[in-house]
Amino acid sequence: MNQELISKIFVPEIKKKTDALVARYETRRASILEVLRLLMDYYGHLTLEIEEAVAAYLGIPPIDVREVVTFYTLFYTAPKAKKRFNVCRTLSCHLMGSDKMIRYLENKLGIKTGEMTPDGEWSLHAVECLGACEIAPMLQFNDDRFCGHLTEKKLDELIESAKKGEQKTSSGKKQAAV
Ligand code: FES
Repeated sequence: MNQELISKIFVPEIKKKTDALVARYETRRASILEVLRLLMDYYGHLTLEIEEAVAAYLGIPPIDVREVVTFYTLFYTAPKAKKRFNVCRTLSCHLMGSDKMIRYLENKLGIKTGEMTPDGEWSLHAVECLGACEIAPMLQFNDDRFCGHLTEKKLDELIESAKKGEQKTSSGKKQAAV
């Protein structure tokens, strides 16, 4: 059963990349973040079936994979929008007005926190501390851009530039727009 599931999820192209990736680590478990990222890029988001296959492939309990997937905001367990706002709601950002920023985005985008627009263009999530408290209130846009010292004007500008496709950054790099 496990082997069947592994073969189903780790199709030859992905299996080859995963094997190379796992070989770079001292233990199979240590490669979990990169393996999940690889599968998410390939499938678009992570399902329970993918999580089970990763657990079987790495030889670890499925609950360990679940914990990783649910801890990091960069992992998506449902289809993701093209343009994603993750607004920090933890203490520093909360004290600096993140609730107001979230409400403003809800009104602008016409969705509630945790939702995606029906056309799949935009989504809005409230997340825990993203490690950039010094620029509170802040948000993460897509996977690689940090925007801080948020104001309604800055959110308007961010939305407008995102509409024009100006938010592309070099892959994997976080950028602070402060
Ligand atoms: S509290 Fe918001 S980034 Fe730390």
